Amino acid sequence: MLKIMFGSKSHLTVRDNHLFMEDVDCAALAEQFGTPLYVTSESRLRENIRAYHNAFPDADKYFAVKANGSMTVLKIAAEEGMGADVFSGGELFLARLAGMAREKILYNGNSKSEAEHRMAIEAGVRMSVDSREELDYLSKTASEAGGEAQILFRVNPDVSPKTHPKIATGLKTSKFGIPAAQVAETYRKAIDLPGVRPVGLHCHIGSQILDTSPFAEAASKMMDIASDVVAAGGKIQTIDLGGGLGIQYHPDTPAPKPADLAAAILPIFRDRCQDLGISPKLVLEPGRSIIADTTLMLTSINAVKRAHVNFVAVDAGFNVLARPMLYDSYHHVVVANRAALPPEETYTVVGPICETGDILAKERKLPLMQRGDVLAMLDAGAYGFSMASQYNGQPRPAEVLVSGKGVEVMRRSEDYSALLAGQRIPPRLL
Ligand code: LLP
Repeated sequence: MLKIMFGSKSHLTVRDNHLFMEDVDCAALAEQFGTPLYVTSESRLRENIRAYHNAFPDADKYFAVKANGSMTVLKIAAEEGMGADVFSGGELFLARLAGMAREKILYNGNSKSEAEHRMAIEAGVRMSVDSREELDYLSKTASEAGGEAQILFRVNPDVSPKTHPKIATGLKTSKFGIPAAQVAETYRKAIDLPGVRPVGLHCHIGSQILDTSPFAEAASKMMDIASDVVAAGGKIQTIDLGGGLGIQYHPDTPAPKPADLAAAILPIFRDRCQDLGISPKLVLEPGRSIIADTTLMLTSINAVKRAHVNFVAVDAGFNVLARPMLYDSYHHVVVANRAALPPEETYTVVGPICETGDILAKERKLPLMQRGDVLAMLDAGAYGFSMASQYNGQPRPAEVLVSGKGVEVMRRSEDYSALLAGQRIPPRLL
């Protein structure tokens, strides 16, 4: 058995020229289920979660449901002891259904409707309040509902995470959070407001962060704010430092592990808590670093075209995997049915969508490509299916779970009837 995958992708191997996930042949999966197809390794998922538990034994870890909202994934995360970071009523619905404990769910969001506030109050989950204005809306809604919402405050710590600008969330200019200088005063105000009980602080500085120093900077700023809150008479039970740890998408770009993150932030968190005489629960909200590398997306070649460059046109486009189009992101490509062959030519992999930007992979050195070959786009588990759409009349693909030799369907592929879901034609047009 030959391990070809870079980094620590031990769940992916090449056997007899085929790419395997655990003990399952990916080319055979493409034949059995058709493509495009998302394929997830259960053992890798559990391993990733356990790496967080080992690195942060005392912290709660909330899985960021936005990264992957498949019920099977959420159930496994719940079974492994994770809670959930939810960003909408829909994600709250999924997390509750998956069995996540209500005390381990945080409802985040910078734009929650009154109905969503009510839903969170009824579900008894904590909310992260994004502005002074939201504090007032929520206090009113909770008082009317006769409930009490436990709240954290989303802090804008003004930290540059050195990542793609579209996924940097803790910059001063970003739409998220309360400016650091306003937090203590807002906390103080909340103590006296009806319907709300302030219990902590929250931040999230961005995603796909490959250097631990911005996390340390954010932790330190959060502790400065905690100190102001304590001085203003606030009690802090929870400090949530968000998600954001990056993964190794590219063979030459290694990523820190949960243990590296722990080494960067735990000493700051512990020392500063001790100085302040407080012992809040630390919370983290990882999404990508839990689920991205568990999953690959299989897509078949419909056409090989030699034009001004060599194009490989596959059956998945940005409708299936939006990240390359949105963030110019790199996903490593492996030819699943000829995985041991050496690279011979340079290809650009494009999808079937009627837009020039529908490019999955630019200028990759691959073996000679043929119609019918199956490409695996690696590290597609985070913000992959969860960002998929039906654009261009494309039903969404299936998702399967691999465990050892076993394969189970997590989500069947949509057929054309899904394109009609929810549609009504006014009777006068029938
Ligand atoms: N907590 C909050 C409040 C968040 O906004 C996010 C992600 C997370 C946790 C999880 O972050 P992670 O550990 O996954 O980095 N679609 C983009 C990523 C958007 C991230 C949005 N927030 C992408 O495909 O790169």
